[in-house]
Amino acid sequence: MLDLPALPDVSGEERLKLLDDYERLAASGWPADWETLVEARYGIRLSSRYGPHRIRNPFGKASGQLSLTVRQVKHDAAAGLGFVVLKTVIAEEAGGQRSMGDWTSRETRMKLERIRGGSGEEGWTVTWLGRGWGGSLSDYLQFYAEAVEIARPAGMLVVPSCKFHLPGAGGEEWREEEYRYTTGRLLDAAQAARAALPMPLEKDFSPTLAGSDRASERDRILGWLTRVPALIRAAGGDRVALGIKVFNALFDDDFQLVMVSLLEEAPVRPAYLVYANRLFDPDRVFQGWRGVAYGGPDLSDRNLRVLSARRRHPPAAPLPVSATGNIDTGRRAAQYLLCGASSFQMHTLFQWPDTEFAMRVGGKTARALHWLVFHPEHGFIAWLLDLRRRFDLPADADVFDIAATLLRK
Ligand SMILES: Cc1cc2nc3c(=O)[nH]c(=O)nc-3n(C[C@H](O)[C@H](O)[C@H](O)COP(=O)(O)O)c2cc1C
Repeated sequence: MLDLPALPDVSGEERLKLLDDYERLAASGWPADWETLVEARYGIRLSSRYGPHRIRNPFGKASGQLSLTVRQVKHDAAAGLGFVVLKTVIAEEAGGQRSMGDWTSRETRMKLERIRGGSGEEGWTVTWLGRGWGGSLSDYLQFYAEAVEIARPAGMLVVPSCKFHLPGAGGEEWREEEYRYTTGRLLDAAQAARAALPMPLEKDFSPTLAGSDRASERDRILGWLTRVPALIRAAGGDRVALGIKVFNALFDDDFQLVMVSLLEEAPVRPAYLVYANRLFDPDRVFQGWRGVAYGGPDLSDRNLRVLSARRRHPPAAPLPVSATGNIDTGRRAAQYLLCGASSFQMHTLFQWPDTEFAMRVGGKTARALHWLVFHPEHGFIAWLLDLRRRFDLPADADVFDIAATLLRK
């Protein structure tokens, strides 16, 4: 696995400049156009792409409990996130039936916990028993439209996320109507709100799926991955840019690679991949419930192992990758960047206690960005300066260009 040292190789002058900016911003607060500051001070262009869309910077919020209200989206737009993926809605048919209705939940209690990975590294994980958006598809469409309006002035991309029917054992039929109806309604909402087209849409294959009977057979999972892009294409044509959020199945790394190459080589491909949702522990008990999803160092170790293996045997036409999974430092984001990921989406980081952040003013999103971007040793700027030198990257390359170049190195 291509890896990075513990500390970035930056000059003494760069280090002092970073330290100065880090401390100054911690006290003064987070500027709305913070990328301009980064470019002016370090000559680094942070613009990138999420699927086919340009984004102002590569950092986004992953789908979850922190992207299910208008207030949360407002807060993220004000802090200058590049994109936000809304909480996953459960698909419906025209009559309101939902085949994946078991995944609907209003449960929001979460527990942030320390977790030690197999490597001995310490990190954080969030444990909870909730699942998808608790309301109806109509509520969600209204939320999506409002989120687009709020995000527009800040130039933040808003991405809906959906869980559609997946057939289980015994030759269950595909509920194609659910795909047609839900995709159609999301597209209507996107058009009415003048959202970015093609509409980016994450198809959530959640980690809890890994523990369900539905995902007990490899062939069935591969069947889903082949069919889902074709069904969304049939429903939305080229007006939808589908991102498949790959899950960590309860099989080995080789199987993860089979999933990815199947998606990248299928006759009907998604527009991009989101790699990869949390791990699943079938034996862990939480609040009397056996089997929970978790994150932390084991999640990023596994994801980076698989993405590094993909990088060693790159597909002829690699799909863009948005990385998710324990992105807790700029160094971790740089590790995913080395594997060709051009955007980074976080959930757990935005739940860290305030005491973990040096910034004492402003909201959580700004504090987390400050840590992630400006920290003199762990921050993204320091690591981009390092990568630039290490790989002799052109000074005017933005994050998207760097991701594409590094995938070929
Ligand atoms: C409380 C919680 C709720 C989540 N809900 C969703 C969801 O509705 N849809 C989805 O695609 N991913 C969901 N996720 C997964 C996150 O989007 C993210 O991919 C994952 O947590 C890995 O990123 P992290 O290590 O930064 O947390 C959820 C994660 C957590 C912790």
